[in-house]
Amino acid sequence: MKMRAAVLEEFGQPLVVQEIDIADPRPGEVLVKIHACGVCHTDLYTASGVDPSGYKDCVLGHEGAGVVEAIGEGVTSVKKGDHVVTLFSPECRKCENCLSGKTNICTAIRAQQGQGYLPDGTSRLSRNGKELRHFMGTSTFAEYTVMPEIALAKVNPEASMEAICLLACGATTGIAAALWKAKVEEGSTVAVFGCGMVGLGAVLGSQLSKASRIIAIDRSKERLELAKKYGATDTFVADENSVATVLELTKGVGVDYSFEATGLVSVMGQAVEAARMGWGLSTMLGVAGRGEKLEIIPRYLITGRTVQGGSFGGAKGRTHVPQLVDMYVDGKIDLDGFVSHKLTLDQVNDGFDLMKKHDGIRSVIVFD
Ligand SMILES: NC(=O)c1ccc[n+]([C@@H]2O[C@H](COP(=O)([O-])OP(=O)(O)OC[C@H]3O[C@@H](n4cnc5c(N)ncnc54)[C@H](O)[C@@H]3O)[C@@H](O)[C@H]2O)c1
Ligand SMILES: [Zn+2]
Ligand SMILES: [Zn+2]
Repeated sequence: MKMRAAVLEEFGQPLVVQEIDIADPRPGEVLVKIHACGVCHTDLYTASGVDPSGYKDCVLGHEGAGVVEAIGEGVTSVKKGDHVVTLFSPECRKCENCLSGKTNICTAIRAQQGQGYLPDGTSRLSRNGKELRHFMGTSTFAEYTVMPEIALAKVNPEASMEAICLLACGATTGIAAALWKAKVEEGSTVAVFGCGMVGLGAVLGSQLSKASRIIAIDRSKERLELAKKYGATDTFVADENSVATVLELTKGVGVDYSFEATGLVSVMGQAVEAARMGWGLSTMLGVAGRGEKLEIIPRYLITGRTVQGGSFGGAKGRTHVPQLVDMYVDGKIDLDGFVSHKLTLDQVNDGFDLMKKHDGIRSVIVFD
């Protein structure tokens, strides 16, 4: 079948929106018609050529939501017409990691996905008979995608696709980190470093967990205003004294939970130092540059702080994303407030430009 898609042809150059071919789903796979897709940093990171593991030509995009159009042989968990959110982080429920119950990092299709292929080692995407590769197992900057059923979360069809596509990556990362990875307790104190979509999600997740104090820190005053909307009780503009300010706000002890959502290793260090002695738990969500190291004075650990991190905020895609969609439908989480710009597929490169200018939280591509 022919469809329009945004193809990464040259690193550092705009994506080229064009007509390409997509093949039918094979056993265990699903054809999804994409209705909405967020534009995320990871897409830009790969498109720019900075990511050393990046490859081309491929179709980018990984924050997708859509409707099942057709299923391959043996698919049982979704059927035609189901609404789904795409998962770059699958959940097979059969691999050693899934069965452990200790991690959301499913290993079922990891090796092939990392190379840009579906689990059987081939691609469903092509142009003029020449193979194009998939990206993050999702390739949602396109009218359709073919994905393994273990990488699709079946969700409440009442929810707006333009909002819930954000649960495919950024929004879930922050919210899940607070709710299920750090398990923020009622009445506790929290500091969130960085108030982009990931950090705002952590603020919101902490509010849902009934934290009594949520300190939001960012370089941008505008984003701090948004953080207040999402539940921050205290905000301040970040500087080299951010740790001292958090300590001042918490009677000198620091917070029960800190979250880092900037991708800067220096800020990760601040998040550790702002966590309290005895039980402070510091959760790293940002993706640092390759080869960068996080420095921690061991005394912070000996005196009872714990440091953890979480891909996708530790969320298990097929289990947790449908729950978050229901919370959105019930009015408990405001995803619409994260959508700053709506674009067409042809404007995908404008989405990257807006991100570079820090204009808005998220741009969402809406398909007809
Ligand atoms: N763990 C995951 O699976 C996962 C998923 C999505 C995104 N991420 C990563 O999370 C990070 C945040 O993503 P985002 O979409 O929210 O990005 P974003 O760029 O929208 O937000 C980052 C925020 O950090 C702020 N900031 C910069 N310097 C700061 C400082 N010194 N102190 C405090 N704040 C500072 C910026 O002003 C900005 O508002 C990125 O590194 C991204 O790659 C991780
Ligand atoms: Zn992302
Ligand atoms: Zn698994």
